[in-house]
Amino acid sequence: MIDFHFNGEPHSLAGLPADISVLELLRLRLGATGTKEGCASGDCGACTVAIGEPDGHGGLRYHNANACILPAHQLKGRHLVTVEGLARGDALHPAQAAMVDCHASQCGFCTPGIVMSLFTLYEASSHESGGQTATLAPYSQARLEAALGGNLCRCTGYRPIRDAAQAMLAYPADQHRPTWTDNQQLSDQVAASHQEDPADDGHYHRPNHLAELFALRRDHPSARLVAGATDLWLERTQQLKELPELIDLCNLAELQVLEEHDQGLHIGAAVTYARLEPVFETHFPAFARLLHRFASSQIRHRATLGGNVANASPIGDGPPVLLALDASLLLESPEGAREMPAQDFFLDYRQTALGAQEVLREIRLPWLTEGRQLKVWKLSKRREDDISAVLGAFSWQLEDGRLRDVRLAFGGMAAIPARARGAETALEGQPPSEAAFAAAKQALDDDFQPLSDVRGSSAYRRLAAANLLERLRLKIVTDTSQGANTPNTPAMEVMLDAYAD
Ligand SMILES: Cc1cc2nc3c(=O)[nH]c(=O)nc-3n(C[C@H](O)[C@H](O)[C@H](O)COP(=O)(O)OP(=O)(O)OC[C@H]3O[C@@H](n4cnc5c(N)ncnc54)[C@H](O)[C@@H]3O)c2cc1C
Ligand code: FES
Ligand code: FES
Repeated sequence: MIDFHFNGEPHSLAGLPADISVLELLRLRLGATGTKEGCASGDCGACTVAIGEPDGHGGLRYHNANACILPAHQLKGRHLVTVEGLARGDALHPAQAAMVDCHASQCGFCTPGIVMSLFTLYEASSHESGGQTATLAPYSQARLEAALGGNLCRCTGYRPIRDAAQAMLAYPADQHRPTWTDNQQLSDQVAASHQEDPADDGHYHRPNHLAELFALRRDHPSARLVAGATDLWLERTQQLKELPELIDLCNLAELQVLEEHDQGLHIGAAVTYARLEPVFETHFPAFARLLHRFASSQIRHRATLGGNVANASPIGDGPPVLLALDASLLLESPEGAREMPAQDFFLDYRQTALGAQEVLREIRLPWLTEGRQLKVWKLSKRREDDISAVLGAFSWQLEDGRLRDVRLAFGGMAAIPARARGAETALEGQPPSEAAFAAAKQALDDDFQPLSDVRGSSAYRRLAAANLLERLRLKIVTDTSQGANTPNTPAMEVMLDAYAD
């Protein structure tokens, strides 16, 4: 049974297959065809919807999500909003009205998704300003990019869409927002159903604790585990595989912890990247900046760090950072828990050390001690919403002018995320000199034999990785000469991009 609200109204659906997406539910079962299918892989944003969840203060907080790769069963206890639900009678929502007035729609196919991303941006602003949107300053370029980076428009161009984003704040909210936006009863009902234990759907299981998870796995050995579904669901939509039985990890209390300990940060495997962003901003700013280039807002609100690790893609962005930080992973099975260094988890292409009964429970990041630095640089063809061709995550410290405890981790250079051991040895104990880095670049050539694929040729990857080491040298030399050798230097460091401003 899925109890949820849809555009302000309660819905209760039973007997749905485990692997039906929100997009299929909308278009094929609810007859709501305003939400479009473009790519069916989370890339284009045409299917963007808004999901409202209790904000912990009696209201609802909305985020955007890709309906094409969102399991419909994850709607339980949430408010699903689509483009059909925004207008108040004939009065369009400010996001819609501004799109019309700024001539920001041409083909119209991508428009519902863009409107929904603007809707979540507007509602977030309204939430922040206590409903006084007209008094807000215009959005920064960074905020607009974060909000719209997951929506492609192939014809109109982005300027009128950005104009609409800025203009929508000026529309009088009380006449333009749907009546349900300030309906306390709706918020209370969503919160109540969010708390409720779901009735078992037969093939879609939602355990609350690890003990329940282990019992379910024993009884349903072929069931697949799902967290944010942003990797798993592509098997459904791109490879047309069926996922007849699923166990959802998102409700597991043990996988939702986010705790600061003396030794470091403990992150439950089902914590989303969106939830991690502010925490990383404080403690691991280079990791936080990487997240600005990790997929899109739609994906970051669903994708989990645990899913990124367990998926074990050689071009996943999180794992190299974990290797550079010397993170450890807590794995758990009915037999008990074991902790292992993240670098021992990745065995071969998409092969991990996870045992058949084990689940990834926590990721543990040691704090950056004083003087310890972290830099992360991602190279991809597109700045927004693209997977890495090569990613370098580097950590080190300088003691008396010499590099110590150097950890150089790369994605995209081997079948697994891996450290460049030879290059590390070449730098360990050396000053950050041209000669030391020349030796490290030489060693890097033996460390990796990267593949050629659509994201880059082997030669490109070798050159790019060596250039990232050169960038590291220049960064260390510049920082040292400016006396900026502190762990939290907030520079534009993760972005290898071409900002026009
Ligand atoms: C459009 C798009 C853009 C993307 N961009 C990026 C990007 O820029 N960088 C990047 O790194 N990735 C990117 N991804 C990939 C994906 O978003 C990430 O890998 C994400 O972190 C996966 O997390 P999830 O919770 O969605 O995992 P899921 O899809 O739910 O699960 C992935 C796999 O891990 C298993 N699993 C999940 N959690 C656990 C656990 N706790 N224990 C054991 N097994 C588990 C699942 O069974 C499944 O096999 C992108 C994906 C899409 C669709
Ligand atoms: S249809 Fe393209 S992101 Fe969903
Ligand atoms: S309006 Fe549809 S692609 Fe731009």
